[in-house]
Amino acid sequence: MSDAPIEIQEGAIVDQPGGGPEPSRFGPGGVLRRGTIVYTGVTAGRNLQTGHHVTIRGGAVIGDHVVIGTNTVLDGLLTIGDFVKIETGCYLPTHMSVGNRVFIGPCVTFTNDRYPLKMRDAYLRDGPQGAHVEDLVTIGGGCTICPGVRIGRGSFVAAGAIVTRDAPPMSLVIGAPARIEPLPDRLREDNMALSWRDLIPADGDAQ
Ligand SMILES: CC(C)(COP(=O)(O)OP(=O)(O)OC[C@H]1O[C@@H](n2cnc3c(N)ncnc32)[C@H](O)[C@@H]1OP(=O)(O)O)[C@@H](O)C(=O)NCCC(=O)NCCS
Repeated sequence: MSDAPIEIQEGAIVDQPGGGPEPSRFGPGGVLRRGTIVYTGVTAGRNLQTGHHVTIRGGAVIGDHVVIGTNTVLDGLLTIGDFVKIETGCYLPTHMSVGNRVFIGPCVTFTNDRYPLKMRDAYLRDGPQGAHVEDLVTIGGGCTICPGVRIGRGSFVAAGAIVTRDAPPMSLVIGAPARIEPLPDRLREDNMALSWRDLIPADGDAQ
């Protein structure tokens, strides 16, 4: 694993003004690929890897060994754990959290405002309500996750699901609107990318 500073490819921008008072900070290793824009006020751990045209706004706190796919937007004021893979074309708004060893498939949309441009007094009072994705969750491609939903540890969200309700740990979340079912035995193993094998012991917990 490299201890060199993160590689900032030509055409990537770091410390775009407007994100926060402090410059962004990155752990060693990793790469920001051409077209990535990171605002001020971002904190990331070691080995962050972005695809092209990724936008990360201020107040994003990102763990170690995180991959963010091309055209994905992290809209700031959110936390991402360690060993997280976010695929191409996802939208992650403010006030949400993602745990450790999570997979988010392509074109997944998270939301944080249940009644956009309606009921603004309640919105002012309660603020945006993002989703919370616990450790070891897998989310298939093309899902929409409604505001404030909590997806419990180890759950699997099937491709195309529209998740409108909390899912307890070890759920299969499937359909539109999504049904919550017990997770089949074959989907109960812990998430493990091939690239994590040297970094997480076989019996390693998600911390
Ligand atoms: C949910 C999932 C794990 C089920 O896979 P599986 O266990 O092999 O299940 P099967 O394909 O045998 O399908 C079982 C039933 O569920 C239905 N089903 C499967 N996936 C579904 C989905 N995403 N939404 C709704 N129904 C689904 C099938 O139509 C089938 O219904 P039937 O019994 O009435 O014919 C899988 O379909 C899925 O969504 N994986 C995520 C893929 C993905 O997005 N990857 C991202 C990286 S590219």
